[in-house]
Formats: sequence, C-alpha cells, structure tokens
Amino acid sequence: MTGQKLDGILVANTVKDRIRISVEELGKEGIEPCLATILIGEDPASTSYVTSKQKDCADVGIHTKDHRLPQNFSQAELGELIELLNRDKTVHGILVQLPLPKQLDEFEVISKISPVKDVDGLTPFNSGLLASERALLKPCTPSGIMEILDFYKINVAGRHAVIINRSNLVGKPLYHLMLEKDATVTTCHSKTPDLKSFCLDADILVSAVGNRDKFTLTADMVKEDAVVIDVGTSRIAGRVSGDVDYPNVIEKASYVTPVPGGVGPMTRAMLLKNTITAASTSKEIVAHGRESTSP
Ligand SMILES: NC(=O)c1ccc[n+]([C@@H]2O[C@H](COP(=O)([O-])OP(=O)(O)OC[C@H]3O[C@@H](n4cnc5c(N)ncnc54)[C@H](OP(=O)(O)O)[C@@H]3O)[C@@H](O)[C@H]2O)c1
Repeated sequence: MTGQKLDGILVANTVKDRIRISVEELGKEGIEPCLATILIGEDPASTSYVTSKQKDCADVGIHTKDHRLPQNFSQAELGELIELLNRDKTVHGILVQLPLPKQLDEFEVISKISPVKDVDGLTPFNSGLLASERALLKPCTPSGIMEILDFYKINVAGRHAVIINRSNLVGKPLYHLMLEKDATVTTCHSKTPDLKSFCLDADILVSAVGNRDKFTLTADMVKEDAVVIDVGTSRIAGRVSGDVDYPNVIEKASYVTPVPGGVGPMTRAMLLKNTITAASTSKEIVAHGRESTSP
C-alpha cells in the first residue's frame, strides 16, 4: 500500500492563519511584531532565503527591518549592530542569515543575540533551555517537524526515532524535541557504522544529509510503515531534491515528506511563529520593567 504525503505547504498555511490572528491581537495592544534580518555578503542562496523570509513576514503582517552588509563586514561591526537591535524596542526578533563569511565566528555572533529576540532558537542560552524542556524559542526546522507530525496526529511516544544529522541546526535540537515527546531517539552521522541497520529499526526516520552524491535514503533502508521526514536539500540537474528516493520510499513507508513542499515551508512558518512568540514575550518584559537584553 502506498503511504501518505505529509504536506508541509498545507500545514504551514494553517500555522500562518493562526499567526495572522495573533498579529491582529498584538496590534490591539499596540505591538507591531517586527523581525530584523541581517545578511552579510551576496551569496545567491542566502540572499534568496532572506528575501523569502521577508515576503513571508509581509504575508502575515509582520514588519521587517532589512540589513544587507558587505562581505568584509567585521566581527566588531556585526557585534555592534546586534547590540543596537537588542536594545531597539521596535524589534522583536533578530535573524542572522547563516552561513557567515569565513572571517566571522558564528558561535560568537549568535551568542550576541538577546535570547528573547533569538527567533532561530540557536543562542547557547536557548539551546540550554531546550535541553531542559523549557525553551520558548526553538530552532525552526526541528519545531516545524514536530508541528507537521502533530498535525497528522503521528504519535512519537514509545517509538524509535532515528535522526541522520548531528548539527546544532537540525539533529541536536530535534533529539531534544523528540525525547520530550517520549520517543526513543538515536542520532546517526557520517561516522556511524552500518547506518542501514539503524534506519531499518526506525519507526520515525529523519534524514538531513543534503548531499545526494554521498547519500540517498532508498526504500531498502526503510522499515515497512515507517514515517520518513526528509530535511536534506541538494540540487540534482538544477532541481531541488531531498535525501529520500521519494517515489520508491512512499511505496513502503506510511508517511513521507516531499522535497520541495515538506519541511522547507514548515521551517519558514516556524520563524514567523517564533517572531510572534518573541513579540508577545516583549509585552511581559515591558510589564516587568526588565531590559530587553536579559533573558
Ligand atoms: N528544508 C529546510 O528547511 C532545511 C533547514 C535546515 C537544513 N536543511 C538542509 O538539511 C541538510 C542538513 O543541514 P545542516 O545545516 O544540518 O548540515 P550539516 O551540518 O552539513 O549536517 C549534515 C549531517 O549529515 C551527516 N552526514 C553527511 N554525510 C553522511 C553520510 N554519508 N551518512 C550519514 N550521515 C552523513 C553529517 O555527519 P557529520 O556530523 O559526521 O559530518 C552531518 O551530521 C542540508 O541539506 C540543508 O540544506 C533544510
């Protein structure tokens, strides 16, 4: 029997509908949610991601402040800009588009973002909260995956989730979110011997490699009726493609996310959701008289 497509566009649209309502409600309280984006250099992929994120914001009524800076922008200059945005009460979320040019230290840059404006959920403070099951702002791709599972009423409790990725952006935060929902979680990566045996044991299989020359998740690696989440993005003959051999895997799995149209739209929707969460939190911070740079 053929499995079901997990439609990220459909789920992202339901999230966006809820966000539009929140934007209206915040507006009644005099809060205009605003996301500041920072792009260093002119990498075409990064430029197009930032432009899409700004369009998404406009689509749901979130304001944006656009900062496009030269490739040779220094660590100190970037630090100053982030400090300025941390203090700016009209800005609720700060997004620094990654990857950064070589001269910039990513960890140091991210660490400068106020945790209450950290809409990517990547600051060390928010990573710590995530590991303690207390994060408000969670990394967008992992929380988008949890949202799509929730929408389709796919329960992960007691099931074996295997994640092929150990990055700070995807694998590590997803590990915590799955664990929080009572899954038994295994993290795999490029040094995992006999990856196939782990994959074959997975009830929920998340693949986020993003290099089809090195790795493809084929049907023989998937357990009957498994749920397969494809995060990877690579280009094959100019077309965006995931890690998964979708037409064959969907014949065996119960659910599969397509690429494009799966995790990507969910990631974008979660950025909007985090911006609204940050804007709502800002209200409480003002009420309690706390500085916007303190968590
Ligand atoms: N759709 C979306 O919204 C979205 C969002 C975020 C990321 N992505 C995509 O997801 C992919 C991963 O992103 P990332 O930032 O996490 O990249 P990354 O840091 O390069 O992570 C890739 C992971 O894959 C592992 N890996 C590489 N080759 C492997 C192999 N042959 N077998 C098993 N594991 C292997 C790596 O292992 P090691 O750690 O051992 O190197 C690493 O953990 C990329 O394609 C990215 O574009 C998509």
